[in-house]
Amino acid sequence: MRVHIRNINETEFVCSALILPMLEGEGTDYYKIINKSLNGLIKKVVVSKEFNGKHNELCLIHSEGTIKPDRILLIGLGKKKEITPEKLRQAGGKAISYLGNLNNKNIALSAGIISALKLSPVDFIEGGLLADYRFLRYKREKNHKEIKEITVLSNENLYKETRWIETVATATHFARDLVNTPSNDMTPSALVRAARSLKNISVKVIDKAKAADLGMGAYLSVTRGSVEPPKFIVITYKGKNIPPVALIGKSITFDSGGISLKPGEGMEKMKYDMAGGAAVLGAIKAASEMNMPVHIVGILPAAENLPGGSASKPGDVVKTIGGKTIEIISTDAEGRLALADAIEYAKRFKPSAIIDIATLTGACSITFGSEVIAMMGNNESIMEKMKKASAETAEKVWQMPLFDEYKDYIKSDIADLKNSGGRSGSLSSSAYFLKEFAGETPWVHLDIAGTAWIDKDRPYIPKGATGIGVRLLLSFLKLL
Ligand code: BES
Ligand code: MN
Ligand code: ZN
Repeated sequence: MRVHIRNINETEFVCSALILPMLEGEGTDYYKIINKSLNGLIKKVVVSKEFNGKHNELCLIHSEGTIKPDRILLIGLGKKKEITPEKLRQAGGKAISYLGNLNNKNIALSAGIISALKLSPVDFIEGGLLADYRFLRYKREKNHKEIKEITVLSNENLYKETRWIETVATATHFARDLVNTPSNDMTPSALVRAARSLKNISVKVIDKAKAADLGMGAYLSVTRGSVEPPKFIVITYKGKNIPPVALIGKSITFDSGGISLKPGEGMEKMKYDMAGGAAVLGAIKAASEMNMPVHIVGILPAAENLPGGSASKPGDVVKTIGGKTIEIISTDAEGRLALADAIEYAKRFKPSAIIDIATLTGACSITFGSEVIAMMGNNESIMEKMKKASAETAEKVWQMPLFDEYKDYIKSDIADLKNSGGRSGSLSSSAYFLKEFAGETPWVHLDIAGTAWIDKDRPYIPKGATGIGVRLLLSFLKLL
């Protein structure tokens, strides 16, 4: 969907639908002129209480040729005092999905009332762009009609912000596509192709033999049970000559648990165990398209975790690229094995910070449902920036404890560490495991196990892969 901005009267703009945002309990005075041209129809539905302006409430009116737009869609923003950018995003998502389902091709937003509230109509549009997504790759009948154009009717200069959200929404859709794609098509090799499709970046792929030469024993132990070739993907985007930020995304294209096999129920969802990698690719895609003045090294240790004849077994000991040994207690705690090598490898770039994003623990989704990203790290000032990015994007993060007491949980009798400290405390003990590899390098861990997938539609996120992390990481990069 393309976004245009035009300074033109609502009644004069030819389109299939015009969106009018309305406040709860404030009457129709703001739309006096349009209401008059519509023979009082707006006032009528408000007086009759058929439409009250409650947040996300919708009401469709046909203009019957009285004004240029064919239809008027009223969307409630709720009470004036309670409006936030996130509520605007949600209202935009609701309004635009509604119109999309009704096969509207070009639509317009009356932005005046939002600007008058000193808020940005671009937030409303962002919700709309994010909502206008369907995963139809495997449907013979592609019944979703994409909205081609939306025009913001405004006298403000919104050009820069608009380009930004268009790029970010496209990158989020890109990440959602990768995550929704089943593991028979979304293999480590497919992730390489996705990485290579990005512009203005360089991609280096470390294959199995090279990874073995380098000594990535922990990462390679994950892939032993699968015939799908592992790919350790390294992407560089250099928009400025400064030390890089390393973005590491967990990229297990399918997590069966390996020999520590998961229960069958719900296992199909474990295709989303590469959502961290997808978020990193999405963020790099947008950053490079916008020529952001940042330096990023993206690392995706991609592999499939299956129980084959040569699969790793509980009790096996493996060695990472940095020399630390790990006793594998559970082959289902595979993410941290891959991430251990990725974090140590990242340190070779002397990064100013390492951010890892991973569907790491079931405990994360048990604690927070699909609402919140669990954050832990060894550097408060970077975590403060992440919290700021979280507030901006409404991709909620919450800092969890990482006390040294958790070190005991991952002590092994025969190796330097073990990969599982058991169920109790596993959100923090798993993060502590990663911390041991980050060492002195500033590092932040984002556990997106709960947030990367939703089972029910949200105002601007259709059910399935959420694309979480793309917007958060981009806002974070902006703050550096
Ligand atoms: N990929 C899973 C975590 C996960 C669970 C993500 C549910 C999304 C939804 C991870 O590899 C895993 O299996 N973790 C185990 C580790 C345990 C065996 C030590 C867990 O957290 O249960
Ligand atoms: Mn697992
Ligand atoms: Zn996993």
